[in-house]
Amino acid sequence: MENNYQYSTEDLQARDRAHVIHSFSDLSALKEDNCTVMTGSDGIYVKDSDGNQFIDGIGGLWCVNIGYGREEMIEAIADQLRQIPFYSSFTNLTNAPSVELASKIASLAPGNLNRMFFGTGGSMANDTAVRIAHHYFNRIGKPEKKHIISRQHAYHGSTYMAMSMTGPIYHTGWDVENNIVHHVSAPYSYRRPDGMSMSEFCDSLIAELEAKIVDLGAENVAAFIAEPLMGAGGVIVPPPGYQRRTWDVCQKYGVLYISDEVVTAFARLGHMFASKDMFDVQPDILVCAKGISSGYQPLSATLISDDIYEAISAPGGAFYHGFTYSGHPAACAAGLKNIEIMEREDICGRVKKTGPYFEKMLNGLCDLDIVGEVRGSHFMMCIENVANKDTKELLPMEADVGKRVHKHCQARGLIVRPLGHLNILSPTLILEESDIDQMGEILRASIKATMDDLSKEGVL
Ligand SMILES: Cc1ncc(COP(=O)(O)O)c(C=O)c1O
Repeated sequence: MENNYQYSTEDLQARDRAHVIHSFSDLSALKEDNCTVMTGSDGIYVKDSDGNQFIDGIGGLWCVNIGYGREEMIEAIADQLRQIPFYSSFTNLTNAPSVELASKIASLAPGNLNRMFFGTGGSMANDTAVRIAHHYFNRIGKPEKKHIISRQHAYHGSTYMAMSMTGPIYHTGWDVENNIVHHVSAPYSYRRPDGMSMSEFCDSLIAELEAKIVDLGAENVAAFIAEPLMGAGGVIVPPPGYQRRTWDVCQKYGVLYISDEVVTAFARLGHMFASKDMFDVQPDILVCAKGISSGYQPLSATLISDDIYEAISAPGGAFYHGFTYSGHPAACAAGLKNIEIMEREDICGRVKKTGPYFEKMLNGLCDLDIVGEVRGSHFMMCIENVANKDTKELLPMEADVGKRVHKHCQARGLIVRPLGHLNILSPTLILEESDIDQMGEILRASIKATMDDLSKEGVL
């Protein structure tokens, strides 16, 4: 793994502090902290500007599904840039890779999700989903259908509407749209009310969704938006049957079902799309990004059903929506090559075998005193750290347990993501069992080191 340039880490860190605003960060702490500058990558590994190598346990940010350093990806992108680096898909213009990619994705997507709108990220794709849902109801003569139901702990992105649909934990200090966006409870099985069985919990969530639609008036509700498994809100795995039952409720009341598969699509759970294959849900709108290009280029797609497309393409209206970089040829070329690699290497089949091994390794950590729950599926996993496993009581916020585990892991050559008291793992999908064993050893040592720190400080 060669770095192409010689960096001065201190210089980059100083100029980073001076000029770069980081996503989802404590800007005040970053005035003092030194950032890790990633400068190299290969396969499952990334390397920092000081030459330290890490297993990338977070796949960039749930996105580098096929792993790093794929020469054929780089070639496909460069080839496209040589041919024509950019042309838009405004009005009657198009470019070859966007046509090829749309056809390919339509052939893989469940049911009649045959039309898609390309963007450059998940937030934009979710905003597009809402705009299209609203436009659809305007076009079919139901303009009052505007309300959107989302869930606590959802993460749908950082544009205004996507953040409004994201769970309120991220709203503190920011303004969001709250006239038409509503949140029902998250299907947070681990923290369900004491004494409630999983099936009772599921019943209560379904009843709550139905009551919310009835309360708002089904004639006013455009859509319910849901990630099949909730990602950035803490890898929340709903009780069995929940996804299908939420879909049934939407069907009953004529509410569109938007499935946010930004994380789950493109093999992270062992399927190109999880909605139908894993949860028997046929979305009206399906949103994907991240794994669609394995992060080699910014790309997203909002897929819509034929029914919606027929309505919005009927004579008498115009589709006033579009971005300069929708269907960017180099990004679409990356998407096409990425899918070709996934199919050729049977990445889904591979994930179906190595994913359960990854889950088993992580579940093996449950004997540690602060590991309250390990949850998730395949390569979308999370460790919930607690002070007391019986009561599920949390450690004090100041203990910053997720960050401590992350730091201990990084010192041992593994990147994991801290999220409050949680640690999230979303690695590349090409891990071998031996890599997973190594990650297990690092995690165990790092959680133990965290426990030692906390007990020395009298927190545990
Ligand atoms: C489920 C989900 N939806 C949407 C987004 C937003 O995607 P982006 O950051 O590409 O805008 C994310 C990002 O993590 C996500 O996890």
